Amino acid sequence: MGKNVLRNLKLTENNHNVMIYQNLWKQWSSCGKIIFRKSKSLQQSHFISQATGMGRFKVYVTHPNVPQSAIQLLQESCDVTVWQQECPVKRAELMTQIKGKDALFCLLTDKIDKDVLDSAGPDLKVIGTMSVGYDHIDVHEVKKRGIKIGYTPDVLTDAVADLTVALLLATSRRLFESHNEILKGQWGPWSPLWMCGPALKGSTIGMVGYGRIGRATARRLVAFGVGRTHYWGRSDHGDPDNIGAKFCPELTNLLAESDFVVVTCALTTDTHEMFDEKAFAVMKPSAVFINTSRGGVVKQDALIKALETKQIWAAGLDVTTPEPLSPDHPLLSLRNCVVIPHIGSATTQARTEMAMLTARNILAALNGEPLPAEIK
Ligand code: DGY
Repeated sequence: MGKNVLRNLKLTENNHNVMIYQNLWKQWSSCGKIIFRKSKSLQQSHFISQATGMGRFKVYVTHPNVPQSAIQLLQESCDVTVWQQECPVKRAELMTQIKGKDALFCLLTDKIDKDVLDSAGPDLKVIGTMSVGYDHIDVHEVKKRGIKIGYTPDVLTDAVADLTVALLLATSRRLFESHNEILKGQWGPWSPLWMCGPALKGSTIGMVGYGRIGRATARRLVAFGVGRTHYWGRSDHGDPDNIGAKFCPELTNLLAESDFVVVTCALTTDTHEMFDEKAFAVMKPSAVFINTSRGGVVKQDALIKALETKQIWAAGLDVTTPEPLSPDHPLLSLRNCVVIPHIGSATTQARTEMAMLTARNILAALNGEPLPAEIK
C-alpha cells in the first residue's frame, strides 16, 4: 500500500510535505512493506533516510540544565544533542550546532534571528522555546520559513503570579533593606516609623498587561484587601475573574492613580521602553513600581533617576537590561530598589512543566500534529 500511495505523491522540497511523508511512513511501516523510489533532491533523500529509519529527527537543546524528563521524552524518538556548558550556548556554537537539525529546544537567553535561521538550513521544522515570552525570537523570519514555534503559556502562570506578589511585598515592606540593616549592625531598639512602607489594604492597583499572569496576580491581591484594581492593555477584557477590575483606556490615568503599578505585559515594539521619563513623571511620589515582564519595557536610566530623585517611592524588578546585571550596577546600590534575578517562574514544578511542554511542542510539530501551545 505504501509503495502505491507514495508513487502517486509528488515529493516537493517543503518541510510540511516532509512531515506528512514521515507520518505516512509511521503508519505504513507497521505493515513492513514500504519501498521508496530513488530520490533526486536533498530534501527527498533526507525524508527517505528518516523514513527508512536510517536517521532519526535531530534536536538541539541549548542548555545542559533542562529537566531530564524532557530530554528523555525527546530521546525516545529523536537524536538529541545538548549544549554542555553551564551557561547559555554561545552564539557561534548555536550557529554551528543548528545546521541540519530538525528541531531547536531553546531558552529566552537564545536570540533566534535571521542569521541563526540561515545557519539552520532547510531541515529546521520547529523551534520550541522553554518560556512564555518570545521576544528573543524573530517570529516573522521564522514564520516566513514555514517553521513552527512552540512556547509555554499557562504552566508558569501561578509561579510568576506568586513571585510578583512576593516581590511587591518585599519592595513595599522593605524586606531586603531591613535584612541588610541587621547585617550592617543597624538594628536598634524598636522604633515607630522605622522601615515603614505603604499598605496594600485599600490601595489602588494598576495592572499593565492583563493576560494570564496579570489576572492571576490581580486575583491574589484581592486577598490583601486592595481597594481598586484597574488595568491597561491591548483590549478591554471586562472583569473576567469578577474581582471588580476595570479597564483603563488611558495609560497615563492608570499610572497617575495607582499606588502599585504592576507590569506583566509582553515585550513588543509597542511596549519597548514604555516606562520612560514621562511615565515615571505622572506616577505618585508614593508609587511602587513592580516589573516581572521583561527589562526592555523600562527605560532603565529613567527609572534610576526616578528612584534617586524620589519621583516614585520604590521599585521591585525581576527583570532588567541587561541580564545578568553586574554587581556594581547603579540599580543595585539604590536603597529603594529590590532586584531579583529573573526567577518569576522558578518553581521546580513550573520549570519541569515548561520543559515537558517544550518537548511535547517539538514532538507534535515533528509528527505533523497540532502543537499543544503554538505561537501562531
Ligand atoms: C518566560 O517564560 O518568559 C519567563 O520570563 C520565565 O520566567
